[in-house]
Parts: sequence; structure tokens; C-alpha cells
Amino acid sequence: MSLQGKRALVTGGAAGLGLAIATALAEAGAKVAVWDWQIESANLPPERFPITAKVDVSSSLRVEAAAKEVLDRWGGLDILVNNAGICITGSVLELTEQDWDRVMAVNLKGTFLCSKAFAKAMQEQKSGKVINLGSVAAKLGGIVSGSAYSASKAGVICFTKSLAREMAPYGVNVNAIAPGVIVTDMTKDLSKGDFSNYESGIPLGRVGEAKDVAALALFLAGPDSDYLTGEIIDINGGQYMD
Ligand SMILES: NC(=O)c1ccc[n+]([C@@H]2O[C@H](COP(=O)([O-])OP(=O)(O)OC[C@H]3O[C@@H](n4cnc5c(N)ncnc54)[C@H](O)[C@@H]3O)[C@@H](O)[C@H]2O)c1
Repeated sequence: MSLQGKRALVTGGAAGLGLAIATALAEAGAKVAVWDWQIESANLPPERFPITAKVDVSSSLRVEAAAKEVLDRWGGLDILVNNAGICITGSVLELTEQDWDRVMAVNLKGTFLCSKAFAKAMQEQKSGKVINLGSVAAKLGGIVSGSAYSASKAGVICFTKSLAREMAPYGVNVNAIAPGVIVTDMTKDLSKGDFSNYESGIPLGRVGEAKDVAALALFLAGPDSDYLTGEIIDINGGQYMD
């Protein structure tokens, strides 16, 4: 599938799933911008990623300024991947109010702010693909990831459906990916590098790899998914089926 000529942005694209998705989009021919609050930690070749910016997606000021740069340079955006996310674990008794606010600010408000920053441009061009990162934790409740994270991702799922309704009249598709356990820095921290506990509960017998999720994102970014909107697609090896 070719994304030649398409303009894409991946938030949290310096590592993990975001980097895998950004790379897959670039390999398919898209021009890919990457935002990350730790952008300096990534080695992103400019011929592949012509725009990179240090952006905390929970900051409306930063998001608006960086979005202006993208829109000024490219005149629009075809693919927005709201991937930036954090996980602060702990029981309800352990989580602080600050932990709760920070997780909501990055995962849920960040998805809202970035979508808002490009919604008008996508409406005007009458096309676009928005891909949000949910989680199986939103459906199961956070077992390891905790209540703040799972509640934030449940919010992302409902936001996806609401935005899909708003953007459908303009020909913009909005969908979410709900991964199970995928090997990245986030899950290595949570599992302390030992995924064997998870594997027994996964019918396909293994945890996921970033490229599994990138392949799904590629489908949602391209023309083959033009009749799909407001959908939350599980990708979890069968760990959770609905
Ligand atoms: N890995 C999994 O198993 C899994 C499962 C379900 C959902 N997800 C979701 O997928 C997304 C990517 O997860 P991952 O596993 O690659 O995580 P990760 O921690 O490996 O990478 C996340 C990236 O996002 C960036 N980031 C974090 N907060 C940011 C902010 N405020 N502004 C900008 N950038 C920020 C980080 O610097 C990092 O580069 C997240 O939304 C996560 O919740 C992951």
C-alpha cells in the first residue's frame, strides 16, 4: 500500500509503538512529522522525518505552536496518530491526585488537544485519518497498569467515537487501536522484563511486537479503511475478545 504524498504526524514517536508506526508510515511513502517530549533521545533521520519537535502533548500552548509549524509547512495533515501516553501504576490507595491528573493530562487531554489542533484543517480539506491509541486496559480494568491509566484509555475510546461522529460528515475517519501487551519500554518497566506471566493468558502464546501494531496503524492510515470509523480495534493475541 502506498502513502506517497500523504502528510502524517505521530505523537510520542521517539520510541516504542510510536517509532514503529512512524517508521512504517515513512516506509509506505508518507512524509512523517514526529513529536515527543523526549525528542532528543531519538535518532530520527531528516530525510525520513522532515519535521521533529519537542512537544508535551498535554500543553495546549506547545501543541498549538507545533501544529502551526506543521500546517504552515505542509498546508494540511492527512494522518494524525495520537500515540503519546504514560502509565503510572499503583492501587487507588497508592496513586496521588498528581499521578491521576498527569495520566489524564497526557493520555486523554493530549489526544483531545492534538485532534483539536488539526480538526479544522482536516475538515477544510475534506479528508483525513485520525488514529488513537487505546488499550485493552480500558476494557478489562487495569490489572498491572492501574486505575488512572485504564480510565484515561476508556476516555480515549469514547473520545474516538465522539470525534468519529463529528468528523464523518467531512470525510475524516477516526479509529482507535486497543493493544494488549506489546514489548516496549513501557511494558518492560511494568513487567520488569519478564513477560512469561502474560503469555499463559494469551491464546496466540506470545506478547505482541511493535511491528504488529504498526501494521494495523498502516491499514487505518490508508485507503483500505475508508469505510471504517468510530471503531476500536483490539490487537492482543486473543487475550481479550469482544
Ligand atoms: N506497549 C503496550 O503494551 C501498550 C498497550 C496498550 C496501549 N499502549 C499505548 O500505546 C502508546 C505507546 O506506548 P509505548 O508502549 O510505545 O510507550 P513508551 O513509553 O515505550 O513510548 C511512549 C513515547 O511517548 C512519549 N511521551 C510520553 N509522554 C509524552 C508527552 N506528554 N508528550 C509527548 N510525548 C510523550 C515518550 O517520550 C515515548 O517516546 C501509549 O499511548 C500507550 O498507552 C501501549
